Amino acid sequence: MTYINLNDYAKAAKEHLTPAAYEYYVGGAGDNLTVSENQAAFQRIKLLPRMLVDVSNRDLQTSILGHGIDFPVIVAPTAMAALAHPDKEVAIARAVANVGSIMTLSTMSTTSMEEVSKIGANMWFQLYVHKDRGMTKNLIERAEAAGFSALVVTVDLPVVGYREALMRQPLVVPDGMELANLAQYWNQDEYPSVNHYVAAQFDPSLTWADIEDFVSSTTLPVLIKGILRPDDAERAVASGASGIIVSNHGGRQLDTVVTGIEALPYVVEAVDDAIDVLMDGGVRRGTDILKALALGANAVLIGRPVLWGLAVDGQAGVEKVFAILRKEYDIALANAGVQSSKSVPRDIIFKG
Ligand code: FNR
Ligand code: LAC
Repeated sequence: MTYINLNDYAKAAKEHLTPAAYEYYVGGAGDNLTVSENQAAFQRIKLLPRMLVDVSNRDLQTSILGHGIDFPVIVAPTAMAALAHPDKEVAIARAVANVGSIMTLSTMSTTSMEEVSKIGANMWFQLYVHKDRGMTKNLIERAEAAGFSALVVTVDLPVVGYREALMRQPLVVPDGMELANLAQYWNQDEYPSVNHYVAAQFDPSLTWADIEDFVSSTTLPVLIKGILRPDDAERAVASGASGIIVSNHGGRQLDTVVTGIEALPYVVEAVDDAIDVLMDGGVRRGTDILKALALGANAVLIGRPVLWGLAVDGQAGVEKVFAILRKEYDIALANAGVQSSKSVPRDIIFKG
């Protein structure tokens, strides 16, 4: 099988995953309308390329929170990589180190943050705030000690979305796997499914006051993940955050919510260059990256495509997913008449 686009990986991955793992990864909330919309919204946007620009030397690099990356794509946090491949999060970290990107490690990972940090990749730690704030602070301190370079606080999961696939087939942590960052708090007997753990432990009372507390008590820059509204973006800036990830959680939380790419320009306007703005949801093509940058994102994140690459071929599969996207993006830049990731003009988006 020749893999020439990310959809090839998505199709092949199904054959490498148990039905329960595949449904958990692929699924969203309610009618899955937002899962489809995340890609459809990119597909609706038309490009307006500029001709006769010298694009013989293209600069794909950019920097996020002051760290250089090879091209503007970062790994989104996704729970439980062990469902995809025995090398789990370690394979993703190795791939990220090789391709010069950044990996966001989920609180719900199946390898501990200490273990993954040994690979030496540039890593951000994604935090789910637990009702037990002592335990939450402990997770932050462990991330600081393990050398993570930023804290990503996810704010769009006060409760798990209405995920029908999980209702039909609850996601059980298989024998031999563990939620490794939470080893002291999670056990199979008390929490027969991941949903039980989340419902019991995650804190739906989280507010901006907590964010301000995290920002002031950690040495790490804080990114807020799951912002869609301009007024929330302004609040994030005021709270001292260093970045925002415009995201609808891959359509897994609130079905029919606005997509990241649609919300992005409004958030960018509100933030007014004060901090970095990233986006995720439905990025599958080099042209999607170009569109997100034209609409003001500094970089994008990819969730499911990383899991598909991992499921098909471990570390090599993740590297190939990055290589495909990089090549597509480079070709898109050239054909749009854009020389650099740092100067993608807004006017390459067709307004009609
Ligand atoms: C996620 N996402 C997620 N987000 C987060 O902050 N913490 C997490 O643990 C998880 N877990 C998770 C598991 C799985 C299987 C998926 C598919 C997604 C959301 C993720 O970070 C990201 O926002 C979306 O996946 C982006 O959309 P795409 O690229 O999957 O379309
Ligand atoms: C998910 C949670 C774990 O989307 O973020 O499944």
